[in-house]
Amino acid sequence: MDERPVTTLNKPDVALEITLRPSLFSDFTGQAKVKERLEIAVTAAQQRGEAIDHILLSGPPGLGKTTLANIIAKAMGSSLKNTSGPTIEKAADLAGLLTNLEAGDVLFIDEIHRLQKTIEEYLYPAMEDFKLDIIIDQGPNARSVRLNLPRFTLIGATTRSGLLTAPLLTRFGIRERLDYYEAAQLQKIVVRSARLLNIEIEEAGAHEIARRSRGTPRIANNLLRRVRDYAQVRGDGRITAPVADLALAMLEIDENGLDEMDKRILEAIIVKFGGGPVGVSSLAVAVGEEPDTIEEVYEPYLIMEGYLKRTPQGRVCTELSYQKLGLKFSQGAQPGLL
Ligand SMILES: Nc1ncnc2c1ncn2[C@@H]1O[C@H](COP(=O)(O)OP(=O)(O)OP(=O)(O)O)[C@@H](O)[C@H]1O
Ligand SMILES: [Mg+2]
Repeated sequence: MDERPVTTLNKPDVALEITLRPSLFSDFTGQAKVKERLEIAVTAAQQRGEAIDHILLSGPPGLGKTTLANIIAKAMGSSLKNTSGPTIEKAADLAGLLTNLEAGDVLFIDEIHRLQKTIEEYLYPAMEDFKLDIIIDQGPNARSVRLNLPRFTLIGATTRSGLLTAPLLTRFGIRERLDYYEAAQLQKIVVRSARLLNIEIEEAGAHEIARRSRGTPRIANNLLRRVRDYAQVRGDGRITAPVADLALAMLEIDENGLDEMDKRILEAIIVKFGGGPVGVSSLAVAVGEEPDTIEEVYEPYLIMEGYLKRTPQGRVCTELSYQKLGLKFSQGAQPGLL
C-alpha cells in the first residue's frame, strides 16, 4: 500500500495506469540513458543465466519507477512480488516475503525509504549473501537460525533516495535516478495513451498537454483524460491545440504547467514569509498541505524550473516566482541569499 499523501497530482488511477503502463523497454519513452543501462544489465544477466543485480530506482512520483520495475521483471522472464516499505511492519513479514521467493524472482519494494531500520538490517545479509538470520523462540531458548534464500533480485523504488542509509544504498549494484521528461517525450507518451484510449488528438493538442504536465507522464495521462472530457462536452471530441488550451485554462493549469497549489506555495513564501527563507513545516501549515507532499511532489519541479531555491536556512523564491505572480522582486527581503 502506498501511504504517501494523495493529491490530485500524484493520485494514481489504478485501472488506468495498468492500461497505459508500457510493459516492454521498447514502449518506454524517454530516460534514454537509464533505459540503455538497464537493458544491457538485463541482457547480460540473461546471457549468463543469472539473476540481475539489485536495482534502486529513485525520482519524483509518476516518472515511471514502478513501470520500469515491471518491465525489468518481464524482460528477465521473472515474476514480480510487490510490496512497500510501510507495509513491512515486522521482521516476520519480511522473512515471509523472502522465503516465498523462487530463484530469479524480483521482489519490488516501493517507498523503500520508509522501511523501518530494524527491518532494514535483516535485508543486508539477504541482499548480499542470500541468507536470512532469524531469531526463533524467546528468553533463554532464543536462538538464531540461518536460512538460505534463492538468488532473487530486489528492486527498490523511492521518491527520496536521500533518506536511504548508506549500508542499504551501497547494497544496490545498480542505482538509477529518473528525471523529469522533456515536452517532446511527453508528447509521444500522450499520443500513445490517446491511441490506447481511442481518443482523437492532433500533434499540436498533444504538445499543449505535454508541455503543461510538469515533466511527468502520470500527470500527462491525467490531463489527457480531463482534456478529453472537455473536448467531448464543449467540442466535437477531437483534441486540438486550442481545445487543449481552453481545457487546461479551465483546470487552472497555467502556461508553464504550474497548478493552483504550486502558485499557493510561491505566494505564501513571498507574501507571508517575505520571499523566504522559510522551513518546509511552516510553509506546509501556511498552504494547508503535508510537508512530505511539498518536498516530494511540488518542490522538486519548482526548483528545477527555477522558481525556488533551497538554502541551508530554508526555501527562497527567485525573481522568476515574483514575475509569475506579477509581484515586484525585492532582493532585500531575502536574507538567505545575501
Ligand atoms: N516512460 C514512460 N512511457 C510511457 N508511459 C509512462 C512512462 N513512465 C511512466 N508512464 C506512465 O505514467 C504512469 C505512472 O508511472 P509509474 O507508476 O511507473 O510512476 P512511479 O515513478 O512509480 O510513481 P510513484 O512514485 O508515485 O509510485 C504509468 O502508469 C504509465 O502509464
Ligand atoms: Mg510507483
